Amino acid sequence: MKILVTGGAGFIGGNFVHYELDHHPEDSIVCLDALTYAGNMETLREALKNPKFSFVQGNIADRDAVYALFEQDKPDVVVNFAAESHVDRSIENPGLFLQTNIAGTGVLLDACRKYGIGRFHQVSTDEVYGDLPLERTDLFFTEETPLHTSSPYSASKASADLLTLAYFRTFKLPVTLSRCSNNYGPYHFPEKLIPLMIINALADKELPVYGKGENVRDWLYVEDHCSAIDLIIRGGRVGEVYNIGGHNERTNLEVVKTILRALNKPESLIRYVTDRPGHDLRYAIDASKIEQELGWKPQTMFDTGIQGTIQWYLNNSVWWRNVLDGSYRAYYDRMYKYR
Ligand code: NAD
Ligand code: TYD
Repeated sequence: MKILVTGGAGFIGGNFVHYELDHHPEDSIVCLDALTYAGNMETLREALKNPKFSFVQGNIADRDAVYALFEQDKPDVVVNFAAESHVDRSIENPGLFLQTNIAGTGVLLDACRKYGIGRFHQVSTDEVYGDLPLERTDLFFTEETPLHTSSPYSASKASADLLTLAYFRTFKLPVTLSRCSNNYGPYHFPEKLIPLMIINALADKELPVYGKGENVRDWLYVEDHCSAIDLIIRGGRVGEVYNIGGHNERTNLEVVKTILRALNKPESLIRYVTDRPGHDLRYAIDASKIEQELGWKPQTMFDTGIQGTIQWYLNNSVWWRNVLDGSYRAYYDRMYKYR
């Protein structure tokens, strides 16, 4: 079958392209990506050598370009990773998030209706559920937890979820949806917590921890997210939502200290900075639905995955040095200089 992967030059989409080419060599993949600041062709370097893979630069919100692609490539399955994905940027510029994450998803859904599709899979996030109290470690997000968003990013993702489910109900479009916890691993853009802290620590730069560093995230190794989506697009029930997460909850401070220890750097590099407005306290996923229905199980626990990820950044400094271009440095100064 032919899979259209949108946002495949980004972190998770890029890992998914590699996962599919490795595990399903019979399938072909077309990647549609606008190559925003977060998209990087270097991430797809190996894939580009594979005759089963092709790349098209374009915006998911550009209706003419998306329809032309569907007309030419006739995908059987669409997996939508393309998004503005960083909460802090959504606080700076919400409008772009509405355009890409909501309007862009709407264009893809329309194209699927117009040209016909075996499956449209929307890659969503646990952030649509809002947050859980820090002290209630017995609580987890299930697929039935009400949507209750905190940031423009999560609100835009929740809107796209609702639109996707509306196309299932109204137009009987065969959709599935997944809501995953925080990912980490290779090719993670260095504005997100883990790669930012690794790269700053390597350069003996301060590590900016928001608030007291008490917030909790449930970290999942990116390949485990890819294997879950692979199972859903091949065996998941249409119209269903699947939570994905690995029971690897850590406070931000624990994550930062683990990185410092692994790199043999002092904790004095930590700098506590003004908290993120509306900062979600704790995310924690109950993934029993996908485990029971599709037999999914995460393979990499945090303590091994984080060491492998740190090693990846040590071995691939060319990749992240190229990413840290002028526009990213300007963002970094804006975000942290006077914080
Ligand atoms: P990313 O920011 O690393 O990559 C996003 C990719 O989408 C980039 O290649 C970018 O060029 C592309 N893109 C952006 N706007 C586009 C547009 N208008 N048209 C076409 N391409 C466009 O993001 P990521 O971390 O890989 O996240 C991928 C998806 O997974 C997102 O939908 C995100 O909401 C979701 N998600 C992420 C996490 C996480 O921890 N990173 C967790 C759960 C869900
Ligand atoms: P992030 O990687 O942006 O993911 P998300 O906000 O989608 O969970 O941030 C993860 C956590 O780390 C979040 O609680 C915010 C915090 N954080 C910092 O403390 N300092 C930073 O410089 C960044 C980028 C994040």
